[in-house]
Amino acid sequence: MGRVTVSAIKADVGGYVGHGDVHPDMLDQARLDVRDAVAGGLLIDGSVGACGDDVNLVMTHQRGVDAEEIHRFAWETFVEMTQIAKRLHLYGAGQDLLADAFSGNIRGSGPGVAELEIDERPSEPVIVFAADKTEPGAWNLPLYKIFCDPFNTAGLVIDTKMHGGFTVEVHDLIEHRRIFFRCPKDLYDLLVYIGTPSRYVIKHVFRGDEPDEPVAVTSTSRLSLIAGRYVGKDDPIMVVRCQSGLPAVGEVLEPFAYPHLVAGWMRGSHNGPLMPCHMDHSQPARFDGPPRVVGMGFQVADGKLVGPRDMLGNASFDRAREKANEIADYMRRMGPFEPERLPAEAMEYTTLPQVAEDLAARWRPIEAGGDSLPQRLSEGTSDTHAAEDLLHRLPRS
Ligand code: F6R
Ligand code: MG
Ligand code: MG
Repeated sequence: MGRVTVSAIKADVGGYVGHGDVHPDMLDQARLDVRDAVAGGLLIDGSVGACGDDVNLVMTHQRGVDAEEIHRFAWETFVEMTQIAKRLHLYGAGQDLLADAFSGNIRGSGPGVAELEIDERPSEPVIVFAADKTEPGAWNLPLYKIFCDPFNTAGLVIDTKMHGGFTVEVHDLIEHRRIFFRCPKDLYDLLVYIGTPSRYVIKHVFRGDEPDEPVAVTSTSRLSLIAGRYVGKDDPIMVVRCQSGLPAVGEVLEPFAYPHLVAGWMRGSHNGPLMPCHMDHSQPARFDGPPRVVGMGFQVADGKLVGPRDMLGNASFDRAREKANEIADYMRRMGPFEPERLPAEAMEYTTLPQVAEDLAARWRPIEAGGDSLPQRLSEGTSDTHAAEDLLHRLPRS
């Protein structure tokens, strides 16, 4: 049937309640739109899902990656959902639609996009992962494990078809440049970068060194970089193909049995465990989280999406959910202290700098001998008058 494109596009266009969920009326609207787009021949198929307050459209078609009609359809669907969100006074209605109008490509205008064009195999198992309360770099560690780590993926050792390894394409979100690593040869070089997931994110994985054979793709938008201010944490989406010379479904799911720490959570400003969730129970709660991920499994059949099947709701991930709660207990006790709170550089796009700006005038240079005050205070004094005198000398705004 020729090449098929899988387009996964997600956006937060209104939360129910707060930043927690997508209202069922919004999902109904999106499903109607998808049904019409299939009937009208724009899409071969489409599936509407949600993770937390983000809705995701998984679509198949034959118009290739970055097709204007497909992006326009997604944009218009999000706009219609926004109208419902506005009518119901849902929280942050239209939050991720940063542009005033659609301008040819949805990338760079707010929503997250992960698309790949494939030659559909006789059987094509695909998993779409969607996360809430975290950022695109959250996929770095699982992707590394899936495609590069033989302790995760037995096929890297056992399957002759996987011995050729994979090529990993990494994007630098700050400098807008890309680099390719041929793994396993370049493993150490790859890790130099992807261990900094706030800046370097895995965009694609290719089989061997065949650049026209993508086997995984992620969304890499950073809303704050687009908007120049804090607008949420770019909750990401990714598509991974499985089986027959690629990592098996179970090898693709395996990294999510370990709730690794990711940036996001409350106010996009905290590190927390990525909790694997049931598709119907993906709503953040505690401290607006913890960060979470759902896995939607599909068999692509002549471009049709057979599914979704809930991949991470399975009982074999129950212990990971418990572990994530334990880690959340531990992390939360540090409150506003790093490393529970993100490091200062990462707070640049939050509202914290505004608070610091208000306090700026209260800072004074430390003059010569200026360290004597805290020293004398810490030594303690029985003379309360002397202590009061010292306190009066403290700088005031
Ligand atoms: C994080 C997130 C929430 C909000 C928080 C405050 O990605 O969406 O944790 O940051 O609920 O939201 P506002 O500032 O809209 O009241
Ligand atoms: Mg939101
Ligand atoms: Mg969200």
